[in-house]
Amino acid sequence: MPRSVQSPRVINIEDLRRAAKRRLPRVVFDYIDGGAEAELTLRANRQAFEAVTFRPRCAVATSACNLRTTVLGTSLSMPLILAPVGSCRLMYPRGEEAAARAAGRAGIIYTLSTLSGCRLEDVAAASGAPVWYQLYLVGGRSCALAAIERARAAGFSALVVTIDTAVAGLRERDIRNGAKELLSGRFGAMLPFVNQLLTKPRWLAAFLADGGLMKFANVIIPGKGPMLYADVTTALEQAVVSWQDLNWIRDAWRGPIIIKGVHTGGPKC
Ligand SMILES: Cc1cc2nc3c(=O)[nH]c(=O)nc-3n(C[C@H](O)[C@H](O)[C@H](O)COP(=O)(O)O)c2cc1C
Repeated sequence: MPRSVQSPRVINIEDLRRAAKRRLPRVVFDYIDGGAEAELTLRANRQAFEAVTFRPRCAVATSACNLRTTVLGTSLSMPLILAPVGSCRLMYPRGEEAAARAAGRAGIIYTLSTLSGCRLEDVAAASGAPVWYQLYLVGGRSCALAAIERARAAGFSALVVTIDTAVAGLRERDIRNGAKELLSGRFGAMLPFVNQLLTKPRWLAAFLADGGLMKFANVIIPGKGPMLYADVTTALEQAVVSWQDLNWIRDAWRGPIIIKGVHTGGPKC
């Protein structure tokens, strides 16, 4: 681990956040740090976590603290699972493999996003511990079925089906930072925003050495190969999951399925 992210420089998550802000171009940092519109839900979620307090049991002999637990038959060293985060190779070279390796060492599950830049086989090998695969239907049903089969063969132990991205959030920071323009590849459109990348030369050098803009290595379009990095928002809106889809997903994946993003009790709620 580099010294820049070790104690005493980094003691908590807020220290890590500051380090990320220093290292990453604004458009990349804000993609991770930001939420939709006025970020009310983001703030409410944080407040909900901050409102949780633990009530200690006092005057109880505790020889060793043990946080071990079991989730869907998998034993975890502590009750944490890394949620799927797309586009990690924009943040760090071979980002998904790096995160999976760290999760494996910590004895917790890593969940790989469909929208990742590393091949799912490489991520499973990097972790060496149980891994889950998160499914979006981008690229259509045949792409999804091929990914499910690859995930099974690579040893992923559960499938996480995300159902809450039928409409993507309006991420105002992305608009201000010119995320769409920077991805357009058109020089004129990129020019007003490109300074963010040029002022982070260490990130830029690592990004280019990692192959530049990633492709979606696990969304293989028949006859075309890995899906190019494009407007993810549009791709997701064209790939809505409905309850009917769960029938063929269930047929294709015999192991545990986790539905991610349940906000209401049914279609009419
Ligand atoms: C940068 C970023 C990328 C994400 N990518 C995905 C994704 O590809 N698939 C998915 O199901 N959820 C994705 N999510 C949602 C997270 O998995 C998680 O549900 C969400 O961030 C809420 O958890 P938190 O409060 O711990 O951030 C992403 C979140 C962030 C911040």
